[in-house]
Amino acid sequence: MNSTRVNEILTVTEQAAFAAGEWIGKGDKMAADGAATEAMRAELGKLPISGRVVIGEGERDEAPMLFIGEELGLGGDEIDIAVDPLEGTNMCAYAQPNSICVMAIAPRGALLYAPDTYMWKVATGPAAKDAIAIDASPEENCHNVAAALGKPVSELTVCLLARERNDEIIAGVRAAGARVRLIGDGDVFGVIQTAIEDSGIDLYLGSGAAPEGVLAATAMRCIGGGFEGRFFFRNDSERERALKTSGVDIDAPLTLDMLVRSDEAAFIATGVTDGELLKGVRGHSRAHSLIMDNRDHSVRFIESVYRHAGEGQFEL
Ligand code: FBP
Repeated sequence: MNSTRVNEILTVTEQAAFAAGEWIGKGDKMAADGAATEAMRAELGKLPISGRVVIGEGERDEAPMLFIGEELGLGGDEIDIAVDPLEGTNMCAYAQPNSICVMAIAPRGALLYAPDTYMWKVATGPAAKDAIAIDASPEENCHNVAAALGKPVSELTVCLLARERNDEIIAGVRAAGARVRLIGDGDVFGVIQTAIEDSGIDLYLGSGAAPEGVLAATAMRCIGGGFEGRFFFRNDSERERALKTSGVDIDAPLTLDMLVRSDEAAFIATGVTDGELLKGVRGHSRAHSLIMDNRDHSVRFIESVYRHAGEGQFEL
């Protein structure tokens, strides 16, 4: 995977964002997701890679596009691809901030196959990365992260998805005396925020989707943050699927090294709606993205302008 390849791959999330952008505020999250998925698939098919989807839109029979195990590309480097064509489908459908198109890539075999189940997650930025543990109580995680950051726990802010299943954790965070920031959706961005100075978020806790866990873990690996997870199954069939596909002890804590087994991973996201980290798309002309590349430890913010036939000057 050379740098050119990572830049080429940027077009995949950009085109997905343009396609989803047509559905911003239209109230139809399935259509928005479908448009992003179709665009992503078309772009991936043009790349000089031998890509295998490890996190996709479902399994072969359920989703015609980007199914797990699908091989994509014109041939080339053997890589694993994890995608969430539209992360925050509701946020796009209802014109709310922070919906993004997301992809992670890594050498073949490096990304954990995470089935479509839930995952308990804990994440924080580089400064406190060794202070978190998925098996620690919310109180312990709050106190340990606050100590690592050198601030009182009363000034710590913890981000969680507003879900009933997170209520006990929320109560634990409040018992520790920390602040709670609840988000309606979008925990990939919720996790990443913990690594951004001035985001106002210090720690991410609670359960969200497992595939999003692998995507967020890739981002954290690229930016030197900390992440741990643990599968959370709603029924036996989810357990069985994970047993068959994941290749790890499905009851054990999932460390960053188990989730992303390579130093050569990259994480790419393009904004759909305007957000705190990335601006959203402007028509099919302008897109704002970030590329986190673990090979050179860089985070690049890229604004692309696509010129279309018949257009005159473009604004800077
Ligand atoms: P979608 O973009 O697929 O709708 O997912 C949004 C999301 O909020 C994720 O960020 C999160 O991991 C997951 O949904 C949580 O799932 P649920 O809504 O079932 O609690």
